[in-house]
Amino acid sequence: MVAGIDDIAIYIPRLYLDASDFAEARGLDPVKLQKGLGISQMSIVDSNQDPACLAANACLKIMQKNKLSPEEIGRLYVSTESAFDESKAMNSYVIGMLEQVYGQGAFEHCGGVETKFACVSGSYALYDNANWIRAGESDGKAALVVVSDIAKYDMGSSGEMTQGAGAVVMLLNDSPRLLRFDPKVTSTSIKDEYDFYRPFGKETPIVHGQYSNLLYMIQVRKALEMYKKNVIKTKLIEIEPGETILDHMDYINMHLPYSNMGKKALAYLVRHEWRQLPRWKKIMQEVGMEEPVPKDPRGTIESVLGDEEFMAKDHEFTKIFSKTPEFQEVYESKLSSSLVASTMIGNLYTASLYLGFRSSLEFEFQKGIELSGKRVGFGSYGSGSSAMVFSGVIQPEYKQVVQDMNLESEMGKRRKLTWDEYEKLHENELTPEQSMVHARKEFILVDVKTDIETKGERRYVYNE
Ligand code: COA
Repeated sequence: MVAGIDDIAIYIPRLYLDASDFAEARGLDPVKLQKGLGISQMSIVDSNQDPACLAANACLKIMQKNKLSPEEIGRLYVSTESAFDESKAMNSYVIGMLEQVYGQGAFEHCGGVETKFACVSGSYALYDNANWIRAGESDGKAALVVVSDIAKYDMGSSGEMTQGAGAVVMLLNDSPRLLRFDPKVTSTSIKDEYDFYRPFGKETPIVHGQYSNLLYMIQVRKALEMYKKNVIKTKLIEIEPGETILDHMDYINMHLPYSNMGKKALAYLVRHEWRQLPRWKKIMQEVGMEEPVPKDPRGTIESVLGDEEFMAKDHEFTKIFSKTPEFQEVYESKLSSSLVASTMIGNLYTASLYLGFRSSLEFEFQKGIELSGKRVGFGSYGSGSSAMVFSGVIQPEYKQVVQDMNLESEMGKRRKLTWDEYEKLHENELTPEQSMVHARKEFILVDVKTDIETKGERRYVYNE
């Protein structure tokens, strides 16, 4: 049976921090954020919002847009790494909020869980729900997979410039208008690592940024190797001599902790794939330098990062390689449109890959490109660490969904924060009643109980 993504909706908080204001306050060169990392604005949650609210707002949008009734939804999964409870799953809060609109008990038979594996858990949730549909267990019902996160780092840390917040929800069914998943090729890699993690009780993560970036690329490459084997085994794609699997992906969406990371990761994968091919000879001539090799090619990530000479040369090589017309063509045609939303919104952790996919659909459609039949590859990564590579094909009915996509209007009117407001929000100095914007037709958090018997209970309302 077929399974895939029928529609996508996003919910982005209305507050944002401008990258140049951030750079000024932190004494950084604004060009580092804008050009070095590809960040213009970072979405920031208001004092009456949490990841469950963001998720519920996204779910309500997709249900209203598609005139879905709760009985048509068999599963609702929430994937997040911003959980605020160690036991109660975030989908239960989301259902509680949705039932304020659809009526008590309306989602009584909508099963689901909260999934966690840093930024990759949404991809596992999509895969599991697609398989629920493929197995025929869904009995004609649809699944909602909502990925929702608040990317928040310590004040003054190097991760602080890569913050953001938002939720993306995907409607999965057996007759998807947007994307049909390719069967039996989804591939994973996994390794016990401490590149980025958030111990119990800590609101912000412990991050080894450069380590994490390199691990991300290595793990996605390993998953891609497996994906290639699966593609050959299942005869999904025939890879001719001189070709690479990437030639058969019309679009490539990468995990985006910040938008330029997508370009870096793509360059890494393309280098790895092209190195074996006749076309590499010409590329090497254009680059005009040998591809650097670490002093200890079989060493650890630490030894590679500690090899300063190699790192400097590799950085130089990557920069020149990224400017070759061959790579530029791949970048412009397969990846660049997926980066637009990330530049305006920032890091969404689990949701960032799917915000990228959503962005790619809108901006490629605007170029007037016919998208039907195009294969989309996904490179998903979650710290800790696991990667997943999978693909799907855009369906002939995609226009029904994509023609109405408009990022600006879906985000709504946004309000720029002053530095003082940002600091207060970051340090949780404001109560829900002291929110910066008055939300309309949205779920908001009104209270978190503090007394011993009910500690941690959250109350939400739908603001008409
Ligand atoms: N003008 C233009 N570009 C500049 C610049 C300037 N003045 N200063 C630096 N840059 C460029 C650098 O060359 C680099 O580009 P490159 O990646 O193409 O080499 C980029 O800006 C970032 O600079 P860098 O020195 O590497 O930044 P950093 O060490 O301060 O930190 C991160 C960057 C991303 C590692 C850090 O913000 C972080 O840890 N973020 C969190 C990442 C995360 O969440 N990971 C989760 C798992 S994926």
